[in-house]
Amino acid sequence: MEKNSVERVRSFANLTIPGNMPEVVFYFGSQTGTAEKFANQLEEDAERLGVEQSKVIDFNNFTPEEFCAHKFVVFVVATHYEGDPCDNTKNFHKWFKGLQRDKSNPTPFKGMKFTVFGLGDTSYEQFNEMGV
Ligand SMILES: Cc1cc2nc3c(=O)[nH]c(=O)nc-3n(C[C@H](O)[C@H](O)[C@H](O)COP(=O)(O)O)c2cc1C
Repeated sequence: MEKNSVERVRSFANLTIPGNMPEVVFYFGSQTGTAEKFANQLEEDAERLGVEQSKVIDFNNFTPEEFCAHKFVVFVVATHYEGDPCDNTKNFHKWFKGLQRDKSNPTPFKGMKFTVFGLGDTSYEQFNEMGV
């Protein structure tokens, strides 16, 4: 096995040791409730599968300090209007876009693992814009 693969297996194996698993945080961006339900469902599934600490956060309640302290984030975000964030995601989206322009801190999410579930509809021209 390549060195990189060995490291990955080792770091995954470490997560299976009780107490080693970071909290998994599910942030949802939702206009009509689908992404919110999905985030809650994912969190229940994670708990059932043995994730020791998890919680669901409405993007309305996002703060940069709390967000940057997370180690493992799952984004569950819908796209609305014309490729735009949902109302509850606008503050986060504005902050995030600002970070991309800010060259003074190139690695604000160092050490954070994340994944994105985007909800959209292919009949819209800006399909799943928030997820991508
Ligand atoms: C008014 C409106 C605008 C939408 N705009 C987009 C869009 O631009 N791109 C897209 O991929 N989906 C779009 N969608 C589809 C939603 O993202 C999709 O239905 C999603 O599941 C809704 O999630 P929510 O219930 O959590 O808000 C739109 C839906 C509505 C009702």
